[in-house]
Amino acid sequence: MSKVVICDHPLIQHKLTFIRNKETNTKDFRELVDEVATLMAYEITRDVPLDTITVETPVATTESKVVSGRMLGLIPILRAGLGMVEGMLKLIPAAKVGHIGLVRDHETLQPTEYYINLPTDAANRQLIVIDPMLATGGSAIAAINSLKKRGCDQIRLMCLIAAPEGVKAVQDAHPEIDIYLAALDDALNEKGYIVPGLGDAGDRLFGTN
Ligand code: PRP
Ligand code: URA
Repeated sequence: MSKVVICDHPLIQHKLTFIRNKETNTKDFRELVDEVATLMAYEITRDVPLDTITVETPVATTESKVVSGRMLGLIPILRAGLGMVEGMLKLIPAAKVGHIGLVRDHETLQPTEYYINLPTDAANRQLIVIDPMLATGGSAIAAINSLKKRGCDQIRLMCLIAAPEGVKAVQDAHPEIDIYLAALDDALNEKGYIVPGLGDAGDRLFGTN
C-alpha cells in the first residue's frame, strides 16, 4: 500500500489557515497557495536520488552531492492545479510541465477530461500530479488513469486538502501511488465539497464563482 504523507511543517499549517479563511482575497489566496506549493515541493522531493561529484572549494577538493539526472514532471489538473505550479518550479526549475484538463459535473460529481498535453518524455519521468483538492477522488483517479494509459508509471499525487473518501478512492484505484497532503479533513458534504475545506479552489484562485 502506498503512503499518505501529511506535510505538517508549522509554516505550511500556518499558511493553510489563511487559505481556508473565507475572508482571504484572491490575491492573497493565490500567493499563499504558491508559497505552500513551494514548501510542499521540499517535502515531496525529500527522497530524490543524489550523485556524488568532485568540487573544488577555495580551500580544498572534496566530494559533494548533486541531485541525480532523474527527471521530474509536474502535471497540474486544470484549472486549480495551475495555482501550485510556479511555487513548485521555484524549487525544481528543471521540471517539465504537462497539463490535464478535467471538470467535475456539479450534479453527478463525475470528471470529464477536456484537455491533455504531456512532455514527450513523460513516461520516463517521475511525475507529480498536482491539484489543491482531493474530494471524491474522481478527478485524481481520472488523471492518473490518463497518465498510465500513456505509459507513465512513476506517479505521485500532491494536494493541499483531501477528504478521507478521496484518499480511499485513490488508494483503491491506484494502490501504489503515494499521496502528499497539507491536511486531511473530516468529510465531504452532500454537494461534494470538502468540510471544512476551503471552498471552490478554482474560483478562489481565479476570482470566478
Ligand atoms: C475541483 C478541484 C479538483 C476536483 C476535486 O476542480 O480542483 O480537480 O474538483 O474533486 P473530486 O476529487 O471530487 O474529483 P473542478 O472540477 O471544480 O474544476 P476547476 O479546477 O476548473 O474549478
Ligand atoms: N473541489 C473544490 O474546489 N473544493 C472542494 O471542496 C471539492 C472539490
